Amino acid sequence: MKVTVVGAGAVGASCAEYIAIKNFASEVVLLDIKEGFAEGKAMDLMQCASLNGFDTKITGSTNDYTKTANSNICVITSGIPRKPGMTREELIGINAGIVKTVSENLVKHSPDTVLIVVSNPMDTMTYLAHKVTGLPKHKIIGMGGALDSARFKYRLAEALGAPISDVDGMVIGGHSDVGMVPLTSHATRNSIKVSEFISQERLEQVKEDTKVGGATLTKLLGTSAWYAPGAAVSGLVQAIACDQKKIFPCSTLLDGAYGLSDLCIGVPVVLGANGIEKIVEIELSAAEQEHLMRSAEGVKKTNSLLNL
Ligand code: LAC
Repeated sequence: MKVTVVGAGAVGASCAEYIAIKNFASEVVLLDIKEGFAEGKAMDLMQCASLNGFDTKITGSTNDYTKTANSNICVITSGIPRKPGMTREELIGINAGIVKTVSENLVKHSPDTVLIVVSNPMDTMTYLAHKVTGLPKHKIIGMGGALDSARFKYRLAEALGAPISDVDGMVIGGHSDVGMVPLTSHATRNSIKVSEFISQERLEQVKEDTKVGGATLTKLLGTSAWYAPGAAVSGLVQAIACDQKKIFPCSTLLDGAYGLSDLCIGVPVVLGANGIEKIVEIELSAAEQEHLMRSAEGVKKTNSLLNL
């Protein structure tokens, strides 16, 4: 199992590290445009192998895509992260050109790859990857919902005073501060609806804290987060590499599901060896459905800024 991660910045390197620590891939190639940077990160990570007990071979490359040839899974983290006060959508001007070039190069050398898009604005970058690569739609996956759901579970556990392992919940919709739809009506603590334990008002607060999960960190860190994004990507990569058939909310090209078409947005999907093996349609409350529709309008508006 060969995995390429493009962008050796904090998210890319963290993603490579989590993949290696989980020890399911034979090879991870880290690629960056900055001379020697990916090689350096790869060497540093490889020097963790005996300490952390993994056999995954991590190599670095300065923009040489031949090194990525025949990757089973490619992850795109390249582009600029947001600064405090910025929205993810504001990154489109710079990141669209980068994601276009990177996607084309990756698919040229790995025509059968599954592509995971992390760069922001993520739903629009996933849509762009479809337009420029022509890969089948089950092979392009946007990573947002897995991260937003992890942040939702963190906030739920905090509100419930419960261990995170007791909590389950999912965030669908666009990967943006206004577009995220935390599914509070479906969230549970050990299969009991969370509304049995906390007030509607507290639940609303959890929802709001979840939606600004990334922005809160950007303000604290001065740049966007990397540990949870890296861990979330590694979860998707593992589900595909190990054919786990796990359900994650992922950004995928919709063609009628949830009443939406011609955009990529987060919905629950089954991930296995073929990438997205199924879109799972679940019943939403009227408020959640309405929020998803508004979220889709926002994503389409950002998509319209692409020069396609
Ligand atoms: C975040 C970035 C990865 O939410 O979008 O932290």
